[in-house]
Amino acid sequence: MKFFIDTAEIEEIRQANLRGWVDGVTTNPSLIAKSGKPFHDVIKEICKEVAGPVSAEVISLQAEEMFREGKELAKLASNVVVKVPMCEDGMIAVKKFKAEGIKTNVTLVFSPMQALLAAKAGATMVSPFVGRLDDIGVEGMTMVDQVIQMYQNYDFDTEVLVASVRSPMHIQIAAEMGADIATIPFKVMQQMTHHPLTEKGIKQFMDDWNKANKK
Ligand code: G3P
Repeated sequence: MKFFIDTAEIEEIRQANLRGWVDGVTTNPSLIAKSGKPFHDVIKEICKEVAGPVSAEVISLQAEEMFREGKELAKLASNVVVKVPMCEDGMIAVKKFKAEGIKTNVTLVFSPMQALLAAKAGATMVSPFVGRLDDIGVEGMTMVDQVIQMYQNYDFDTEVLVASVRSPMHIQIAAEMGADIATIPFKVMQQMTHHPLTEKGIKQFMDDWNKANKK
């Protein structure tokens, strides 16, 4: 299973990279806006930090414009993946990107049917947003299971990238289901390291060691 980090913060990418947790990066317009830096500069900087795919999202909503914008993004670095929102124009752009050998990540996917259409269009990756579905009382991980099953039934190459991750449980379930990738906020990666019994055990070992070695 590949782990991407869902951030536009260079320091978070560096920290996660030091720990061996980064196979790629996803960004979105909200994360870029939060970084406060120019879009293309942020993407170029991120692409220098990681060897794996870096998703950069187009802002246009019209197919030709998306294609033009995506081609500019793809020129920034060889590991850029053009992130395209799920919509009809987006699918036209995805098909054209595929014909040009440019990788895509279809984002804002909230139903198995949207994921099926993205795969048909030739998406490299598809991003089901699990947390935002959970937010409206729909079990997000059920959609992931359905998408994996559909792609397996028909041997689609499109990778399932679990997005809008909010907790370690999303990652555990995604791994059990066999999702190809999860894109994870750094905070959730850190939460995944913790277990109260690990922390209690470390403390006990240290206390015993210190007692035995007291002069
Ligand atoms: O990769 C998509 C992700 O950034 C969206 O997450 O938490 O805004 O739903 P969230």
